[in-house]
Amino acid sequence: MILPGTGRGTAEGGGGGPDGFPLSREYGRACEMTTASFPAMRMRRGRVSPWMRAMLAEHRLHPSDLIWPLFICDGQDREEPIASLPGVSRWSVDRLAGKAREAAVLGIPCIALFPNTPNALRTDDAREALNPDNLICRAIRAIKDSVPEIGVLTDVALDPYTSHGHDGLVDNRGMVLNDETVKILVDQTLVQAAAGADIVAPSDMMDGRIGAIRSALEREGHINTAIMAYAAKYASAFYGPFREAVGSLGRLKGDKRGYQMDSANSDEALREVALDLAEGADFVMVKPGLPYLDVIRRVRDRFEVPTFAYQVSGEYAMIEHAAAAGAADRDALILETLFAFKRAGASGVLTYHAPDAARLLTA
Ligand code: PBG
Repeated sequence: MILPGTGRGTAEGGGGGPDGFPLSREYGRACEMTTASFPAMRMRRGRVSPWMRAMLAEHRLHPSDLIWPLFICDGQDREEPIASLPGVSRWSVDRLAGKAREAAVLGIPCIALFPNTPNALRTDDAREALNPDNLICRAIRAIKDSVPEIGVLTDVALDPYTSHGHDGLVDNRGMVLNDETVKILVDQTLVQAAAGADIVAPSDMMDGRIGAIRSALEREGHINTAIMAYAAKYASAFYGPFREAVGSLGRLKGDKRGYQMDSANSDEALREVALDLAEGADFVMVKPGLPYLDVIRRVRDRFEVPTFAYQVSGEYAMIEHAAAAGAADRDALILETLFAFKRAGASGVLTYHAPDAARLLTA
């Protein structure tokens, strides 16, 4: 076959290259793909004007792609700035509804809530997680009362409630106990669902928790409470600022490598996702975000289920510090990183930049 504009044959057709050598397979494939080569084909024609670029954009970003994580603190009429997350604060429950309203007005469909539990209430057994009147439950109710149109996602894990900062119960050798922890996570979920959480997001990485949580939700009549499983959650250095935000940073003994994934792995992520889906996860998440775009793509291709990315606290901080140092334009970094998630196949992104991104997208 002769390709238009090339005068040469494809590799499969046995044609020769420019110097009479057989065409490489790559060259042959590229020719088949483009059907023309230079100068019949000039890729820059598609980039000459803003309207042309807009028309040809393969991916689009919209505020409805975003989930905004918000931190909650105890007290009244309080805003506590978080030093390691410039521009991000913890809000007392009475002021949180205002943030939820801001999100709804911007077209952000869902917020994610993280409590900074008062120190006196942190214990080895994380019992405050099961208090129906704890910070997060009060926050859920306040938002549902005043901004009922926004979705509320809650984290299921014990780290904001434990004295040792781990996501589960710890035995006397420092091992996080799996099955004992799952029992508490189930009760924690039911408390959050009863308070009105729309999506529960187990972020603990215990084995078998999705199945246990799904059957408890069904049993208790919470049939429409969705589960977004932190299915592929890596043990990451990018969580530092978050741990300051929820107050677990100074407490954490050791690390979370006994339950969170090793960054050397990605086949393992597919097994984690397969298990969570088989146990009843409605959606899955990959976390952190940018360093794991390959995992998002593999998950999306393999399972074709709603797959979310969490652009985590350390990623936010990198963008803020780079911009503050004059190394790059903040707004451009925000949008460019969000497009990376869309290209990788993400259905949506949890990001602390959600309101800024939504503003940029609707400006
Ligand atoms: C806790 C949890 C973490 C994050 C979300 N849920 C931290 C951790 O696992 O230590 C991190 C989010 C972020 O860094 O923005 N289970």
